Amino acid sequence: MAVSTRRATTSTESTIPHFNPVSGPYLGRLMSTNRKEKLYLPLKVGEANHIFILGKTGYGKTSFMKALAEALWEYYHEQGREVLIVIFERKYDYSKFQRLKAFWKKRVEEFGYEEATRMHPFLAKYFEVMEKRPSLKNQLGFPGDFAMSIPNYILLDAYITRKPYPVDVFTWHGLQLKSFPTRRIIFRPTRMPEAIRLDNGWGKVEVVIGRIHLRDISFEMLARKFDIPKGTAYGRILRKYWKVYKIHDPDEILKRVKVEEPSMRESTFESLKSILDEIRADPLYLKGSVLKPKAEKITRSENGIYDEPKPFTDYLTTKAINIIDFSDNSDLDLEEQRLIMYLMWQKIKLIAGRKRVDVWIFFDEIQDLIGTAGEASRHNLAWKTMEEIYRKGRSLSVNVVAGTQYLYKLPMSLIMGAAHIAVIGALASPKDLDILRVAIMDGERLRIPVEHDSFEEFLKRRKKKGRGWFSFDREFTVKLYFRPNQSF
Ligand SMILES: Nc1ncnc2c1ncn2[C@@H]1O[C@H](COP(=O)(O)OP(=O)(O)OP(=O)(O)O)[C@@H](O)[C@H]1O
Ligand SMILES: [Mg+2]
Repeated sequence: MAVSTRRATTSTESTIPHFNPVSGPYLGRLMSTNRKEKLYLPLKVGEANHIFILGKTGYGKTSFMKALAEALWEYYHEQGREVLIVIFERKYDYSKFQRLKAFWKKRVEEFGYEEATRMHPFLAKYFEVMEKRPSLKNQLGFPGDFAMSIPNYILLDAYITRKPYPVDVFTWHGLQLKSFPTRRIIFRPTRMPEAIRLDNGWGKVEVVIGRIHLRDISFEMLARKFDIPKGTAYGRILRKYWKVYKIHDPDEILKRVKVEEPSMRESTFESLKSILDEIRADPLYLKGSVLKPKAEKITRSENGIYDEPKPFTDYLTTKAINIIDFSDNSDLDLEEQRLIMYLMWQKIKLIAGRKRVDVWIFFDEIQDLIGTAGEASRHNLAWKTMEEIYRKGRSLSVNVVAGTQYLYKLPMSLIMGAAHIAVIGALASPKDLDILRVAIMDGERLRIPVEHDSFEEFLKRRKKKGRGWFSFDREFTVKLYFRPNQSF
């Protein structure tokens, strides 16, 4: 019986896990063959699936991370499984807003206001609010890098080919624009939570005001934050109650100090009190006794904004994609961000162990959090977290996706601990190509361009967006058109 070559290829496809949609999330289409086969990331059980994403600025690292989060969300849910996705977001983007506005304007011109509103109800609401509520207007216009509750309208007009008929990038990948449910956790918010919610998609967004319990703040950290000088009398007293007696409630400390330190000078008491007042007034902190269990149930708030006295880690959910907002929406210093990363990991360990749910944690611009190789010590909570995830993640089914522009300044174990490596567009440094050649088995064959800023490069950039290399298990590397992000 004659078997057509086409059928033969098809049967190979199902035996190669990278061609099999059941084996894992969709990655994109192969560049090197005529058929441009669709590639999937075969997920391994009991092994880590960490992915490291490299690439020069502007080629689509963040876009691919988003696409990967979407692909994972879709994959797990198609299989009827829960998944916990947590994304650490670094930036918001004003240019994205401007492009969204331009898109809306064009739609209104093309289809008329009514039809455009029917097509894109969120955009209609968004720009209407901006016009009608001047008090909100100057607070708006900063959608996050991971505004995943908004469909990716601005890539709608990107075409793969125009001849013989136009094929847009989504259709070519077998995808459609889509928005996803997100829960966005903000800390010491710098603008109205309502504005943050609207900027990131409104209806499918829940905004949570994140808090940290004071008992999680070490005395040393507190002293740095509130400029408590070493050697002062009030500093010594605070240290004693905080660190030795482990009392982390400003009111409780004051009460006890009054009774237990009768010989304290009036001025010392005043200094102590003013520091404790400052701590009490800081919206980041939770103080006093731990909430009773009944409060653990999240009551659905009317306006999609949660502001309850409990630690941010209580809000992690599998019902939505969790976005930890480290953009300028949150007023945090680096040490606080690192602590939040660490506390998150402590909670994830519990969830992963108890609920047996797969976890995916995304860090965009990882260098911002962990710092350079020289800072990779146990005192750096971000590094400590990363190291622990790499060590313990495997048995707990906790996976990391990390992205950065430069590799060579970072600890080498970061790349050696990754199972897979993706490069988007081009590399930013020749040193990184050297590192990749060591880290990837077929690295010697890699011809990844290293690009310097020039006008010629700028002109070429458009063509390279969303394309690059994916190294499976750091063993073999393919060139591919990455899955585009369906959400904004
Ligand atoms: N497949 C694609 N086709 C066309 N444009 C794309 C594609 N992927 C991403 N882009 C566009 O490229 C731009 C840069 O993408 P992105 O912000 O993801 O890059 P980045 O590598 O994260 O940059 P940065 O280092 O500045 O954060 C975005 O405007 C995005 O819309
Ligand atoms: Mg980015």
